[in-house]
Amino acid sequence: GAGANAGRGALIVLEGLDRSGKSSQCAQLASFLETQGVPVEAWRFPDRTTAMGQMISSYLSCQTSLDDAAIHLLFSANRWEKRSLMEAKLKEGITLVIDRYSYSGVAFSAAKGLALDWCKAPEVGLPAPDLVLYLDISAEMAAGRGGYGGERYEKLEFQKKVKQKFKLLKDAAWQNVDATQSIDSIQTVIREESIKIVNECNSGRQLMQMW
Ligand code: TMP
Ligand code: MG
Repeated sequence: GAGANAGRGALIVLEGLDRSGKSSQCAQLASFLETQGVPVEAWRFPDRTTAMGQMISSYLSCQTSLDDAAIHLLFSANRWEKRSLMEAKLKEGITLVIDRYSYSGVAFSAAKGLALDWCKAPEVGLPAPDLVLYLDISAEMAAGRGGYGGERYEKLEFQKKVKQKFKLLKDAAWQNVDATQSIDSIQTVIREESIKIVNECNSGRQLMQMW
Protein backbone atom coordinates (compact mmCIF):
# COMPACT_ATOMS: atom_id res chain seq x y z
CA GLY A 1 0.00 0.00 0.00
CA ALA A 2 0.94 3.65 -0.33
CA GLY A 3 0.82 4.28 3.41
CA ALA A 4 -2.00 6.09 5.12
CA ASN A 5 -0.41 8.04 7.91
CA ALA A 6 2.46 10.29 6.79
CA GLY A 7 2.29 13.15 4.31
CA ARG A 8 -0.41 14.90 2.34
CA GLY A 9 -2.85 13.49 -0.17
CA ALA A 10 -2.43 13.91 -3.92
CA LEU A 11 -4.59 16.11 -6.13
CA ILE A 12 -5.32 14.01 -9.20
CA VAL A 13 -7.46 15.42 -12.01
CA LEU A 14 -8.98 13.59 -14.95
CA GLU A 15 -9.69 15.73 -17.98
CA GLY A 16 -11.04 15.22 -21.47
CA LEU A 17 -13.91 15.80 -23.85
CA ASP A 18 -17.46 14.83 -22.97
CA ARG A 19 -17.83 11.04 -23.39
CA SER A 20 -14.07 10.47 -23.12
CA GLY A 21 -14.67 8.00 -20.26
CA LYS A 22 -13.55 10.22 -17.37
CA SER A 23 -16.35 9.51 -14.95
CA SER A 24 -16.04 5.71 -14.97
CA GLN A 25 -12.24 5.91 -14.87
CA CYS A 26 -12.43 8.26 -11.86
CA ALA A 27 -14.75 5.88 -10.01
CA GLN A 28 -12.55 2.88 -10.76
CA LEU A 29 -9.41 4.75 -9.72
CA ALA A 30 -10.94 5.84 -6.41
CA SER A 31 -12.02 2.25 -5.61
CA PHE A 32 -8.59 0.94 -6.53
CA LEU A 33 -6.78 3.46 -4.32
CA GLU A 34 -9.09 2.50 -1.46
CA THR A 35 -8.12 -1.17 -1.85
CA GLN A 36 -4.49 -0.02 -1.62
CA GLY A 37 -5.16 1.63 1.74
CA VAL A 38 -4.97 5.15 0.32
CA PRO A 39 -7.50 7.52 1.93
CA VAL A 40 -9.35 8.92 -1.10
CA GLU A 41 -12.41 10.90 -2.14
CA ALA A 42 -13.87 11.21 -5.63
CA TRP A 43 -14.96 14.76 -6.52
CA ARG A 44 -16.23 16.43 -9.66
CA PHE A 45 -16.51 19.91 -11.13
CA PRO A 46 -18.90 21.47 -11.70
CA ASP A 47 -20.07 20.59 -8.19
CA ARG A 48 -23.80 20.88 -8.89
CA THR A 49 -24.80 20.55 -5.23
CA THR A 50 -23.98 24.15 -4.24
CA ALA A 51 -26.06 27.25 -5.01
CA MET A 52 -23.59 28.25 -7.74
CA GLY A 53 -23.53 24.68 -8.98
CA GLN A 54 -27.29 24.77 -9.41
CA MET A 55 -27.03 27.92 -11.54
CA ILE A 56 -24.40 26.16 -13.66
CA SER A 57 -26.56 23.07 -13.99
CA SER A 58 -29.53 25.08 -15.12
CA TYR A 59 -27.32 26.85 -17.70
CA LEU A 60 -25.98 23.52 -18.99
CA SER A 61 -29.45 22.06 -19.39
CA CYS A 62 -30.41 25.21 -21.35
CA GLN A 63 -33.04 26.25 -18.82
CA THR A 64 -31.26 29.59 -18.43
CA SER A 65 -28.98 31.74 -20.57
CA LEU A 66 -25.95 33.58 -19.27
CA ASP A 67 -23.29 35.80 -20.77
CA ASP A 68 -20.22 33.71 -21.76
CA ALA A 69 -17.94 35.64 -19.39
CA ALA A 70 -20.42 35.36 -16.53
CA ILE A 71 -20.80 31.59 -16.80
CA HIS A 72 -17.03 31.26 -17.08
CA LEU A 73 -16.58 33.09 -13.77
CA LEU A 74 -19.32 31.02 -12.19
CA PHE A 75 -17.54 27.76 -13.10
CA SER A 76 -14.36 29.22 -11.60
CA ALA A 77 -16.14 30.45 -8.45
CA ASN A 78 -17.55 26.92 -8.07
CA ARG A 79 -13.94 25.73 -7.70
CA TRP A 80 -12.99 28.62 -5.38
CA GLU A 81 -15.88 27.84 -3.06
CA LYS A 82 -14.28 24.40 -2.56
CA ARG A 83 -10.71 25.66 -2.21
CA SER A 84 -10.37 25.57 1.57
CA LEU A 85 -12.03 22.14 1.80
CA MET A 86 -9.73 20.80 -0.97
CA GLU A 87 -6.67 22.11 0.86
CA ALA A 88 -7.86 20.75 4.20
CA LYS A 89 -8.50 17.26 2.77
CA LEU A 90 -5.10 17.14 1.08
CA LYS A 91 -3.38 18.27 4.26
CA GLU A 92 -5.19 15.57 6.23
CA GLY A 93 -3.67 13.01 3.89
CA ILE A 94 -6.74 12.42 1.73
CA THR A 95 -6.11 11.99 -1.99
CA LEU A 96 -8.67 13.71 -4.21
CA VAL A 97 -9.57 12.22 -7.57
CA ILE A 98 -11.38 14.98 -9.43
CA ASP A 99 -13.46 14.67 -12.59
CA ARG A 100 -12.62 17.97 -14.45
CA TYR A 101 -10.91 21.11 -13.14
CA SER A 102 -9.55 24.42 -14.44
CA TYR A 103 -8.48 22.82 -17.73
CA SER A 104 -12.11 22.18 -18.68
CA GLY A 105 -12.90 25.63 -17.37
CA VAL A 106 -10.50 27.28 -19.81
CA ALA A 107 -10.90 24.90 -22.77
CA PHE A 108 -14.70 25.15 -22.96
CA SER A 109 -14.86 28.93 -22.58
CA ALA A 110 -11.94 29.55 -24.96
CA ALA A 111 -13.69 27.31 -27.51
CA LYS A 112 -16.50 29.90 -27.53
CA GLY A 113 -13.99 32.60 -28.49
CA LEU A 114 -12.98 34.08 -25.15
CA ALA A 115 -9.26 34.88 -24.93
CA LEU A 116 -7.18 32.09 -23.39
CA ASP A 117 -5.30 34.34 -20.95
CA TRP A 118 -8.52 35.96 -19.80
CA CYS A 119 -9.97 32.50 -19.19
CA LYS A 120 -6.93 31.40 -17.17
CA ALA A 121 -6.83 34.46 -14.90
CA PRO A 122 -9.57 33.53 -12.39
CA GLU A 123 -7.95 30.10 -11.89
CA VAL A 124 -4.68 31.61 -10.65
CA GLY A 125 -4.05 30.64 -7.02
CA LEU A 126 -6.24 27.53 -6.91
CA PRO A 127 -4.44 24.39 -5.70
CA ALA A 128 -2.59 22.92 -8.69
CA PRO A 129 -3.10 19.25 -9.51
CA ASP A 130 -0.11 17.00 -8.90
CA LEU A 131 -1.23 14.94 -11.87
CA VAL A 132 -3.56 15.68 -14.78
CA LEU A 133 -4.60 12.60 -16.71
CA TYR A 134 -5.97 13.79 -20.04
CA LEU A 135 -8.08 11.10 -21.71
CA ASP A 136 -7.12 11.70 -25.29
CA ILE A 137 -9.74 10.78 -27.89
CA SER A 138 -11.00 12.44 -31.08
CA ALA A 139 -14.27 14.34 -30.88
CA GLU A 140 -15.67 12.02 -33.55
CA MET A 141 -14.89 8.89 -31.55
CA ALA A 142 -16.25 10.37 -28.33
CA ALA A 143 -19.45 11.38 -30.12
CA GLY A 144 -19.79 7.85 -31.48
CA ARG A 145 -19.92 6.37 -27.97
CA GLY A 146 -23.59 5.94 -27.26
CA GLY A 147 -24.45 9.56 -27.87
CA TYR A 148 -24.36 12.68 -25.78
CA GLY A 149 -26.80 13.47 -22.99
CA GLY A 150 -28.13 16.63 -24.62
CA GLU A 151 -26.44 19.26 -22.45
CA ARG A 152 -25.36 22.59 -23.91
CA TYR A 153 -21.80 21.72 -24.99
CA GLU A 154 -22.45 18.17 -26.17
CA LYS A 155 -22.16 18.83 -29.90
CA LEU A 156 -19.52 17.42 -32.22
CA GLU A 157 -18.44 20.70 -33.84
CA PHE A 158 -18.05 22.39 -30.46
CA GLN A 159 -16.14 19.44 -28.94
CA LYS A 160 -13.63 19.68 -31.82
CA LYS A 161 -12.90 23.26 -30.82
CA VAL A 162 -12.61 22.27 -27.16
CA LYS A 163 -10.04 19.62 -28.08
CA GLN A 164 -7.90 22.26 -29.85
CA LYS A 165 -7.98 24.41 -26.70
CA PHE A 166 -7.08 21.51 -24.38
CA LYS A 167 -3.89 21.09 -26.44
CA LEU A 168 -2.79 24.58 -25.42
CA LEU A 169 -3.04 23.76 -21.71
CA LYS A 170 -0.42 21.04 -21.27
CA ASP A 171 1.63 21.84 -18.18
CA ALA A 172 4.15 20.02 -15.98
CA ALA A 173 1.44 17.91 -14.31
CA TRP A 174 -0.14 16.87 -17.64
CA GLN A 175 -0.06 13.28 -18.91
CA ASN A 176 -1.77 12.23 -22.10
CA VAL A 177 -3.58 8.90 -21.86
CA ASP A 178 -4.67 7.17 -25.06
CA ALA A 179 -8.42 6.90 -24.43
CA THR A 180 -9.05 4.80 -27.54
CA GLN A 181 -7.68 1.74 -25.68
CA SER A 182 -9.91 -0.68 -23.75
CA ILE A 183 -11.35 0.54 -20.45
CA ASP A 184 -9.06 -1.89 -18.60
CA SER A 185 -5.90 -0.79 -20.39
CA ILE A 186 -6.70 2.85 -19.70
CA GLN A 187 -7.32 2.06 -16.04
CA THR A 188 -3.97 0.24 -15.80
CA VAL A 189 -2.08 3.32 -17.01
CA ILE A 190 -4.09 5.60 -14.73
CA ARG A 191 -3.41 3.40 -11.69
CA GLU A 192 0.35 3.31 -12.32
CA GLU A 193 0.64 7.08 -12.71
CA SER A 194 -1.61 7.71 -9.73
CA ILE A 195 0.23 5.41 -7.32
CA LYS A 196 3.51 7.10 -8.24
CA ILE A 197 2.18 10.57 -7.50
CA VAL A 198 0.39 9.45 -4.31
CA ASN A 199 3.74 8.17 -3.02
CA GLU A 200 5.52 11.40 -4.00
CA CYS A 201 2.94 13.54 -2.23
CA ASN A 202 3.00 11.26 0.79
CA SER A 203 6.75 11.76 1.03
CA GLY A 204 6.73 15.54 0.93
CA ARG A 205 6.06 16.77 -2.63
CA GLN A 206 4.95 20.37 -2.26
CA LEU A 207 1.41 21.47 -3.16
CA MET A 208 1.62 24.08 -5.93
CA GLN A 209 -0.79 26.74 -7.17
CA MET A 210 -2.35 27.30 -10.58
CA TRP A 211 -0.92 28.20 -13.08
P1 TMP B 1 -19.89 17.28 -16.68
O1 TMP B 1 -20.53 16.65 -17.86
O2 TMP B 1 -18.55 16.69 -16.36
O3 TMP B 1 -20.81 17.39 -15.49
O4 TMP B 1 -19.54 18.79 -17.10
C1 TMP B 1 -20.55 19.61 -17.60
C2 TMP B 1 -20.09 20.46 -18.73
O5 TMP B 1 -19.48 21.66 -18.26
C3 TMP B 1 -19.10 19.82 -19.68
O6 TMP B 1 -19.58 20.00 -21.02
C4 TMP B 1 -17.83 20.62 -19.48
C5 TMP B 1 -18.31 21.95 -18.98
N1 TMP B 1 -17.40 22.67 -18.09
C6 TMP B 1 -17.08 24.01 -18.35
O7 TMP B 1 -17.51 24.55 -19.36
N2 TMP B 1 -16.30 24.70 -17.47
C7 TMP B 1 -15.81 24.12 -16.32
O8 TMP B 1 -15.11 24.79 -15.54
C8 TMP B 1 -16.13 22.75 -16.06
C9 TMP B 1 -15.62 22.10 -14.81
C10 TMP B 1 -16.93 22.07 -16.96
MG1 MG C 1 -21.44 15.93 -19.37
